[in-house]
Amino acid sequence: MKDADKKIILTGMRPTGILHIGNYFGALLPLVKLQKDADELYIMIADTHALTTLEDSKNLKKNTLNLTNAYIAAGIDPNKSIIFVQSQIPEHAELAILLSMVTPVSMLGICPVYKEMCKEHPQNKNLGLLAYPVIQTADILLYKTTDVPVGKDQAPHIEIAREIARRFNSRFGEIFVEPKTILQKESKIFSLQNPHKKMSKSHGEKTYISLLDSPEKIREKIKIAVTDSGKEIVYDLKKKPAISNLLTIYNLFSKKPAKEVANGYAEFKKELAEVIINGLAPLQKKYKELEKNPDYVKEVLAQGNKKAKKIASQTMEAVKTKIGFF
Ligand code: ADP
Ligand code: TRP
Repeated sequence: MKDADKKIILTGMRPTGILHIGNYFGALLPLVKLQKDADELYIMIADTHALTTLEDSKNLKKNTLNLTNAYIAAGIDPNKSIIFVQSQIPEHAELAILLSMVTPVSMLGICPVYKEMCKEHPQNKNLGLLAYPVIQTADILLYKTTDVPVGKDQAPHIEIAREIARRFNSRFGEIFVEPKTILQKESKIFSLQNPHKKMSKSHGEKTYISLLDSPEKIREKIKIAVTDSGKEIVYDLKKKPAISNLLTIYNLFSKKPAKEVANGYAEFKKELAEVIINGLAPLQKKYKELEKNPDYVKEVLAQGNKKAKKIASQTMEAVKTKIGFF
């Protein structure tokens, strides 16, 4: 198959710690599905990107291994897909510098993620945060990526990537593929304590179910999850946002409609906790096996880095030739 006909998918996540069920249904599982369609699937642990907001990098190595474990435990097959670590491929930084030469600063300052991150991390308004989409563009363009699966919030970054690819091509000659966005379906899970905020690890332990929470923890978090007035278990985002969120979670984990199994909030919550516990059990089992075998996981990353490096360095050679460097 010619490169141009291939479906080359690349995505990434920052190894910033705990993964929750929002990440699982919003990012991990959709990727496992895409694995079947892709001719090549690159999954990048975006550790350099993590530095834009991370003040303390002491857990970076551990989080990188944990995120790799989570991908594999969720169903990513390292024999089919390439899992690699951004910081280990210097070509990402090298290409980002070159791309910055065709990137107007005005395009970056208005980016919604940048504005939001500045609000959330006012002490961290660094150049890296402003250049975040340029670094992301380098990640994408290095592998001749045709499709990038991301959540809605990241979609502007892929638009920027397309624009940078166009500008680079028109200045130095056709070299980069303009990537398409695969917009991940919004089955957004909201915080257990505030159904108007998305579930996120940044809003405190009680607000999310981690993929590794014990059954006791899951029962406790669901028990104290906020509900709405009334007793009826109905999906109504306006009048019953909290119950609707719990119903969403129930439906994602179970095929049975919740109404058939529960009468009243207390009974529903008990049933919901058990459905989550059972739903997460196979992933947790696989994750624990991987945790006992860090050498295997390190080898997966070593192999992934090697494969990624090969493609990335070929692209950089071609880029340098196009530019006409000495
Ligand atoms: P967090 O807000 O916990 O830091 P990230 O922003 O790192 O999560 O998100 C990583 C991935 O998980 C993204 O692809 C994002 O779309 C997805 N994701 C995060 N939170 C949710 C959620 N509550 N519901 C659905 N998907 C989510
Ligand atoms: N910016 C993405 C996030 O915060 C992570 C990421 C880095 C990424 N590089 C990427 C996603 C390239 C897709 C493609 O979730």
